[in-house]
Amino acid sequence: QIVLEECLRGTEMSFFALCDGSRAVPFASAQDYKRIGDGDTGPNTGGMGAVSPSPLAAPALQRQIMRRIIMPTLAAMRRRGTPFAGLLYAGLMIAADGPKLIEYNVRFGDPECQAMLPRLRSDLLPALMACAKGDVRRAPALRWDSAPSLLVVVASRGYPGAVARGSKIGNLAALAEPPSLLFHAATQRRGNTWRAAGGRVLNLVAQEKTLRAARQSAYTALKRLDWPQAYYRKDIGAGL
Ligand code: GLY
Repeated sequence: QIVLEECLRGTEMSFFALCDGSRAVPFASAQDYKRIGDGDTGPNTGGMGAVSPSPLAAPALQRQIMRRIIMPTLAAMRRRGTPFAGLLYAGLMIAADGPKLIEYNVRFGDPECQAMLPRLRSDLLPALMACAKGDVRRAPALRWDSAPSLLVVVASRGYPGAVARGSKIGNLAALAEPPSLLFHAATQRRGNTWRAAGGRVLNLVAQEKTLRAARQSAYTALKRLDWPQAYYRKDIGAGL
């Protein structure tokens, strides 16, 4: 057997829609950085960084994604008797001839979620409840901060291969100072010290008026990290 697949070239976009089984509204977007190395090199990972919104998510493209990808999927699921209500996450490649669907997930993205939600200025729960109750039109309009966010994943050296656990991470409090936000992903607290407990260990998020400023803030904050076994990409948001 031979399987032929279309080779997709372009830029990835993670696109999220709130769905109630029949209707859907756009939620938010992000650009994920999947490869381990700078310049998108090396093996795939769960995600080494993100920016939100995706710089490609112009209103016209979002309308195209809704019309060509999200709505036909919802309609097909309803027809086969498995309507979907909740947050639909489309992993897309934005190719020269338009958006192509690579995969769906029915959850937030990691690390996209940590980049998107700090921009949300209204309550998420009523929107999710409206989906669960079958009428997304009852969801209050979500208010998003127009300032973009940028997230850098800090991993244990060796990720996505085998990593040593238990190394001590110092100076974490200094990373969490505004305007930066620090999310723990795989840490363990022993007494007064934090230790690495997995592959992707920390998420550092900065939100500023421009992506360039957010990038500056995030990487400046990371300089304060005292963890010799840390690895993170240096090019998140570069050139955007
Ligand atoms: N960042 C990719 C995922 O959450 O699947």
